[in-house]
Amino acid sequence: MKPSTITALLLPCVLSLSLPRQSHKTVRWMPLGDSITDYGCWRAWIYLRLQNDPDLYDSVDLVGGERAGEICDDSEFDRDHEGHPGFPAIQMANEGRVSEWLAMNPADVVTMHLGTVDIVRGKPRTEELLRAYSTLVGQMRGRNPNMRIIIIPLGLSAEKNEQVKELNKAIPAWAASQNTTSSPIWVVDLFTGFDAEVDLYDGIHASSSGIQKIADGFYPALLTAIRYVQGGGG
Ligand SMILES: *[C@@H]1O[C@H](CO)[C@@H](O)[C@H](O)[C@H]1NC(C)=O
Repeated sequence: MKPSTITALLLPCVLSLSLPRQSHKTVRWMPLGDSITDYGCWRAWIYLRLQNDPDLYDSVDLVGGERAGEICDDSEFDRDHEGHPGFPAIQMANEGRVSEWLAMNPADVVTMHLGTVDIVRGKPRTEELLRAYSTLVGQMRGRNPNMRIIIIPLGLSAEKNEQVKELNKAIPAWAASQNTTSSPIWVVDLFTGFDAEVDLYDGIHASSSGIQKIADGFYPALLTAIRYVQGGGG
C-alpha cells in the first residue's frame, strides 16, 4: 500500500478533493507464466490504464518475485510478476513452485498462461497438460481458497500447431470442470484475431501490436476479477 493511500484513508474528507479516488480494497494480482508473461509491456499498459482511471487508481497491486527489465516508455509501473522464461507447465506443477511463490507473495487473483514451453520443446499429450493445470490450480487454492483464476489459452500460431489447437479446444471444458463458486475460473482467449505474421515476431512472442492486443483483451477480464474480489463475490 502506498503512503498516499494510507493518508487518504485517514483523512478522507480533507483529501478526497485533491487525491485520486480509491475507496476499494487493493487486489493482489499475480501474473503467472513463462516468457510471454515476462516479456513486453502488456503488464505496464494494463497497470497504467488502471492507474489513470480515478475509480480504479491503486485498485491493483501486482505481486510476484520477478521484476521486468523493460522500460515501457519510461513509465512507472508495478513490475512484480511470476513470468519465468523457458519454464514448462508440467515441471512447474510437479515441483510445487506456485505454492512456494504464493507463500512469498500472496495473491487474490492469478492469471495463468502456461504450456507453450512444453509444446515447443516436446509433444506432451493434452491430458498431461490439463493434469498439470489442475495441479497448479490446486496449489493456488491451497494458498487461497478464494483464489480468482484467469486461464489464457495459448497463442502460439494456433492455426499451424495441432497440439495448441487441441489444448485450446479442451481448456473451456476443463476449466468448467474445475470451477467453484468460492474460486471461480475464467477462460480468456486473447489470441483469436491475432495475425501471427504481424502480432507475433517469432511465432511465439508478441510484437508491439500483439502486446497492445494482449493488454486490450486482458483488461476487461482483469476488471471482472477485481470487481469480484472487491464485491466479495464467491
Ligand atoms: C465459473 O463460474 C463463474 C461464475 O461463478 C463464471 O462467470 C465463469 O464463466 C465460470 N467459468 C467456466 C470456465 O465455466
